[in-house]
Amino acid sequence: MCGITGYIGPKAAIEIALETLKRLEYRGYDSAGVAFWDGQSLNVLKRAGKISNLIEMAGDIRADGLAVSHTRWATHGVPNDPNAHPQTDEEGQVAVVHNGIIENYLELRHELSARGHRFNSDTDTEVLAHLIEEQLETSDNPEEAVRLALQQVRGSYGIAVLFARFPDRIVIARNDSPLVIGLGEGETYLASDITAMLSYTRKVILLENGDLATIKRDEVRLYRLDGSSIERPPMHVDWSAEAAEKGGHEHFMIKEILEQPEAVRDTLRGRLKANGGIEFPDIKLEVEDWQRYRRILIVACGTAYHAGLIGKHIFEKWLRRPVEVYHSSEFRYGDPILHPQTLAIFISQSGETADTLAALRLCREAGYSTLGIVNAVGSSIARECDHVLYTQAGPEISVASTKAYSTQITALYMLGLFLSNVNGTLSMQQYTDATRGLMQAPSLISRSLEMEAQARQAAEALKEMPLAFYLGRGIDAYVAMEGALKIKEIAYVPTQECAAGEMKHGPLALVEPGVVAVFVATQARTREKILGNLKEIKARRGTVLLITSEGETDLPQEADYTLFAPKVEPEALSPLATIPLLQLFAYHVARLRGCEIDQPRNLAKSVTVE
Ligand code: M6R
Repeated sequence: MCGITGYIGPKAAIEIALETLKRLEYRGYDSAGVAFWDGQSLNVLKRAGKISNLIEMAGDIRADGLAVSHTRWATHGVPNDPNAHPQTDEEGQVAVVHNGIIENYLELRHELSARGHRFNSDTDTEVLAHLIEEQLETSDNPEEAVRLALQQVRGSYGIAVLFARFPDRIVIARNDSPLVIGLGEGETYLASDITAMLSYTRKVILLENGDLATIKRDEVRLYRLDGSSIERPPMHVDWSAEAAEKGGHEHFMIKEILEQPEAVRDTLRGRLKANGGIEFPDIKLEVEDWQRYRRILIVACGTAYHAGLIGKHIFEKWLRRPVEVYHSSEFRYGDPILHPQTLAIFISQSGETADTLAALRLCREAGYSTLGIVNAVGSSIARECDHVLYTQAGPEISVASTKAYSTQITALYMLGLFLSNVNGTLSMQQYTDATRGLMQAPSLISRSLEMEAQARQAAEALKEMPLAFYLGRGIDAYVAMEGALKIKEIAYVPTQECAAGEMKHGPLALVEPGVVAVFVATQARTREKILGNLKEIKARRGTVLLITSEGETDLPQEADYTLFAPKVEPEALSPLATIPLLQLFAYHVARLRGCEIDQPRNLAKSVTVE
């Protein structure tokens, strides 16, 4: 999410900072800004919209050897000029650019306000500028000021700080959000992605979590958050610029699949507490408001609709409230019977999907309470919903949604657990087990991703399949639907997604040698029935790819290929572990078939027409 670049050296600093920033525009593009030293004072320019707006604003302004820039993917506060980075303190003594999320920013903001600080933005980042400035009131040591300020924050950050009183340096720090220093001759570069600086230098130092650094023209000093000094040896990067933009991967899709542990962690951050409590600081609803919802309506398209089906399963299971899930495009024709105490949930990565927006407007006209589960901050759906629960997937470039799906279901899990808790519909034990399971989600996903080689082997064996059934029972059937959509849209494999029990009512007629049945089977209560379904396929000489949990021994005996996902407790969370395997399988089939993976034919990332 977001992009940072910086430069300190004899060349035109703003030009370099903005030119390198352009290379990171794909990471976030709702506003951009630059801080620079003009020889006399520290200045900030920032603008909502694309980097080109900022470049136009900067015009011919020259900077004397020092600039830091930022392109934003909004997380806190809508995309507008005040919320763009750099953020400063009131006096403009300190300018900060930040990637990541400060979890305890509300708390810090209240404390700072009580001490007389005035805020100009809705961002979490602004607290950093005030905290650092506060330290500098009694200190002449900018590194120490940053270090002491960071000791007060919780969350993820890659930051770069400029100081009006110390124009010879940039101080940077990293925790869970990457930063790279680029070494030149008498000049130093800075970026959140190596990509940005490759045309200037390939000699880089990668910061690790807990590292801080002071960057000067011809000097870099590194230290840790506890103040101790460290050395990190420079390395040489030989990626092409294009490969680097994709983090060295061949496609954005695989990069985004692999980013899922981090995206899910960011979505949980600040909401699911270590003690198991769940809170949504951005949603202004009291417990009694949440308790009054008797029914839930979920409206979405495509992948987001499939996430909604997972929501239905878990809300019904945990909350014991009736849930209806609609395709947005069908909502207006369905005449749904809604109850006045309905919570209408709209799920969308882009926040701009026309069908979903139209359904939202109908619900608003009818007076229903609306909640968006949206990735793009400040998007139309986010703005028009009464409340928004943002997923924190970061920009998703590939048309095929991957990390958007896993963060959407993560948000739904949290919401389901939260509502179950306030309504007392789960026992303490069930609630604790589920929140513990959810905390493990990032590491579960990482373990599933370790199965990439096996998914690739299965793809190699099955890449020529003429037809693929995607089958499951219960919650597994919903995950299978998303797996089918992935392979259909990027590998152009005809699929039929189907509740496994429905096969014998018609679709089984299509099974013949060469046809593949992908089964998702993780639930103890459907196991025996699935065993029967596997045998039905094998008896007709179809080929079976089974996605099941580690430890399962009987089902694999009926399968030609098996991919094991980590075992998840409670089982309702298993989609988080199985979906990465289906995504990886689809990706490798598409790759082996030579498909245009990131931009599949006939499709668009954001569908803004009804
Ligand atoms: O931006 P949205 O989440 O509202 O988009 C909805 C669908 O168009 C989207 O999920 C689509 O199905 C995916 N790109 C498929 O991978």
